[in-house]
Amino acid sequence: MTATILDGTAVSKRLMAALTERVAGMARKPTLAVVLVGQDPASQVYVKRKGKVAHEVGLGHRQIDLPIDTSEADLLKVVAELAADDDVDGILVQFPVPAQIRQSAVLDAIPAEKDVDGLTTANLGRLVQGRPLLVACTPKGAMRLIAESGVDPAGKRAVVIGRSNIVGRPMALLLEQANATVTVAHSRTPNLADVVREADLVVAAVGRPEFVKASWIKPGAVVIDVGINRTPEGKLVGDVATAEVSEVAGAITPVPGGVGPMTIAMLMENTVEAAVSRRP
Ligand code: GUN
Repeated sequence: MTATILDGTAVSKRLMAALTERVAGMARKPTLAVVLVGQDPASQVYVKRKGKVAHEVGLGHRQIDLPIDTSEADLLKVVAELAADDDVDGILVQFPVPAQIRQSAVLDAIPAEKDVDGLTTANLGRLVQGRPLLVACTPKGAMRLIAESGVDPAGKRAVVIGRSNIVGRPMALLLEQANATVTVAHSRTPNLADVVREADLVVAAVGRPEFVKASWIKPGAVVIDVGINRTPEGKLVGDVATAEVSEVAGAITPVPGGVGPMTIAMLMENTVEAAVSRRP
């Protein structure tokens, strides 16, 4: 079998074209504020891309660059100003933040209705309760790609590898709410290959290059690769050994060009949703 490629670039372009049209018809431009502390090269690339895409969709966009030695109190002051600013609809603080700043303190400072990352306690809690407000962008985008595969998660076995608050946990909740039977596997799961082999839907979010092998995959399964890892040779690879897994899977997301562009598209969608729900 050769898997269907779930082309996140193409799907995100369609979504963004529809979003651009929607934004053009809005009386007030939704505005996204992105805060970057320090100069981590990967974060700089992500933040720049978010700004570029926001501009393409027609959103208002502000980027706030803070020095690497910014204190937690100073960052919280910036977040509080954005929270109080009626012209700002979405606030995103790029992670990781430097060690002197607690990620939890940053998340607790972002009001749920402006949390376009969907990562605050309130938004994750609402998702747990089955009444989501703003949903984390990567799992939300991954669900759209699963929809694109034509496979309905209802009644299927899904295995999510990874239990982070940014991806694994919300992903498992979304799949469960789509009526899949979900297993969350992680670094302490024994016989991981056997667990993954039971899955009709596999989501890999472990941050280990080409970790998931073809022998782990049930023939025909849908494989969603959330990983972005750089090899010592400088090549970008996911958490899935794509070439060999493509011979077994029914559908697979490429890296790059799979979940990544969908994450950014969902950030834009969340910003529009935040603007609409704040001022219907
Ligand atoms: N760093 C890596 N992924 C993310 C994300 O989804 N949101 C934020 N804010 N930072 C990140």
